[in-house]
Amino acid sequence: MRILVAGGTGAIGRPLIAELLAKGHTLIALTRSPENASALRAQGIEPAIADVFDADAVSVAVRRARPEIVIEQLTALPRTYTAESMRAAAPFNHRIRLEGGANVLAAAQAAGVRRYLRQSIAFWGVPGRGLATEDTPLSLDASPAVAADARVVSELEHRLLGNPNIEGIILRYGFFYGPGTWFAPDGDVGRQVRQQQFPIVGSGAGVWSWLHIEDAACATVAAVEQGKPGIYLIADDEPLAVNRWLPAFAQWLKAPAPPQISLADAREAGGEDAIYYGMQMRGASNAKAKRELGFRPRPLEWLVESAVAQAG
Ligand SMILES: NC(=O)c1ccc[n+]([C@@H]2O[C@H](COP(=O)([O-])OP(=O)(O)OC[C@H]3O[C@@H](n4cnc5c(N)ncnc54)[C@H](OP(=O)(O)O)[C@@H]3O)[C@@H](O)[C@H]2O)c1
Repeated sequence: MRILVAGGTGAIGRPLIAELLAKGHTLIALTRSPENASALRAQGIEPAIADVFDADAVSVAVRRARPEIVIEQLTALPRTYTAESMRAAAPFNHRIRLEGGANVLAAAQAAGVRRYLRQSIAFWGVPGRGLATEDTPLSLDASPAVAADARVVSELEHRLLGNPNIEGIILRYGFFYGPGTWFAPDGDVGRQVRQQQFPIVGSGAGVWSWLHIEDAACATVAAVEQGKPGIYLIADDEPLAVNRWLPAFAQWLKAPAPPQISLADAREAGGEDAIYYGMQMRGASNAKAKRELGFRPRPLEWLVESAVAQAG
């Protein structure tokens, strides 16, 4: 199929493009940068140079590309994953998703694109017992940064799924790990864990759903080829509380054990958002993706390796 990817040069975009090429699809990738355009050309991908805030340029690029399918993976997230850097990046990240994303969607619709897939987030189902499903409402009234993100995501999802002229698919991804992500050994959280700057908050009961970046790419290609319009949670098989994944991550990195801090100290350092991620977050069920997309995620890399090391 002929597919245009917006955000094809980022952390998820790179393995996604590799997987789409491996499956024989014809690709066009949107980028702002002439350097990225040259790198895309070298991979056999047609670049389309446009800034997503420039609605006219996006419209021309999409019309010229004549894609049957558009995949949107736009973000403006920082290289570091701290409360401060995420807070500072949030307004622009929201803008690129809302305004930039609206331009790409409008251009796709005008060009007669049949199917449109967009990135969304798996970790904002309202806290509660068990795993969140695709029907679980989002945490629109959670702590300030989480609620703001959840409201943006909710608007983006409604906008796409409410569009009667295009087959909309929402991919709510778990926490990315693997090459180019914050959770790679050379990523920012790897650095923080080595420096004992990434603590367990309280008892560490918050549950995180993980997703290797290459499994994210495979699930996305499966959704392109055989997904049905609607929402898919894409995450691995074993959502884990912070008190399990973080010590194992530290061990895998050969870092000291993570420090543990009280709820009061966490609140002072990171506000209520720190409590959400550390104590309240809810894991996500991947049952629908397994059933409908044949999704088979790998087990969490550092949990497997630390178990092997313990057994040895
Ligand atoms: N679920 C998750 O855990 C999750 C989700 C998303 C991101 N992240 C994390 O966030 C970090 C950054 O990852 P990322 O891949 O999203 O960011 P990134 O590497 O900065 O990629 C952003 C993508 O958006 C494109 N883009 C940005 N602004 C644009 C504009 N104005 N016009 C056109 N294209 C534009 C970029 O294209 P050009 O630069 O080529 O123009 C690039 O392809 C990583 O650590 C990743 O793991 C995590």
